[in-house]
Amino acid sequence: MKRVLSGIKPSGDLNIGGYSGALQQYIKMQEEYESFFFIPDLHAITVPQDPKELRHRSKEIAAFYIAAGVNPKKSAVFLQSQVAAHAELGWLMETQVHFGELSRMTQFKDKSEGKDSVSSALFTYPALMAADILLYQATHVPVGEDQKQHVELTRDLATRFNNRFGETFVVPEPIIEETGCRIMSLDDPTKKMSKSNPNKSSYILMLDDAATIRKKFSRAVTDSEMSVRYDPENKPAVSNLLEVYSVFSGEEIPVIEKRYEGQGYGGFKKELAEVVIAKLEPIQKTFHEIIDSEELLTILKDGAERAAAIADETVRKAKTAMGILTF
Ligand code: AMP
Ligand code: TRP
Repeated sequence: MKRVLSGIKPSGDLNIGGYSGALQQYIKMQEEYESFFFIPDLHAITVPQDPKELRHRSKEIAAFYIAAGVNPKKSAVFLQSQVAAHAELGWLMETQVHFGELSRMTQFKDKSEGKDSVSSALFTYPALMAADILLYQATHVPVGEDQKQHVELTRDLATRFNNRFGETFVVPEPIIEETGCRIMSLDDPTKKMSKSNPNKSSYILMLDDAATIRKKFSRAVTDSEMSVRYDPENKPAVSNLLEVYSVFSGEEIPVIEKRYEGQGYGGFKKELAEVVIAKLEPIQKTFHEIIDSEELLTILKDGAERAAAIADETVRKAKTAMGILTF
């Protein structure tokens, strides 16, 4: 049986990078896999959060899942905090992961750099992420490129645990799509598209309106050679725009290159904006319809129950294997 688990942190406004690297894969995968899509709210609080904002953002991520096409009848959609087994297995995994391994995580280095103080949970975060995945015996984990290292660590931990305590966990595979796994900033193609960039034109948010999207793409940096060609090494900015075009249109990059052969960037950027708007508008419409609905809460409750049934069994198995008395 193939099982998928993944999630998007409710820690900021969702940009099209998260859609591209993660969410759009969920929609495709739920057709073939038994699916668990959660909202990692316990991960979000590894950095300071305003409680009111966090409550709202957690619902927002759930609404984005549904609006983008996650089918709650097929997939369990739930909040991490509603399934207590995450915190419990997270602790057990902390006893297995080495300090040195956590020290090598680039996301921790990036997020802690230049800060006077960071929470210890920001450091141990990958142990909780491993627990998230292992609890469901997930075979596959769709993520963007930046999460690859965490999934690799999860694989190491699962293997280590199985060797020490007997076969307990499935060793999961990351699924990282070639196109769109690392959408770059529109003002600097060497940086990941991220909400933490102070330049608001550098990212497109899932809730940006059409006029804003048009403006941001028209300002996107390109390069001096005026051809629409995919060449990440020499033309990183244009190649990034081609990846966005491909993800949002569902067309292969060579097909798009051919369409714009011999043309400059102006028309390409305009049409790229329209492709993105066409995809986002229906998602935004459904998002606004469900964000404050009872239905959304019912989906989350139901999802948590389905998730807990599996997660509780795994945590019990892990505890028993480790010699924790369970009776
Ligand atoms: P986060 O919002 O950091 O929880 O990220 C949610 C998911 O989106 C993770 O699987 C990330 O790897 C992915 N992701 C975030 N930013 C990008 C980006 N700029 N390009 C592609 N994937 C991304
Ligand atoms: N760490 C992921 C991120 O920052 C979010 C996440 C937490 C996750 N637990 C997960 C993703 C389990 C996939 C599977 O984006």
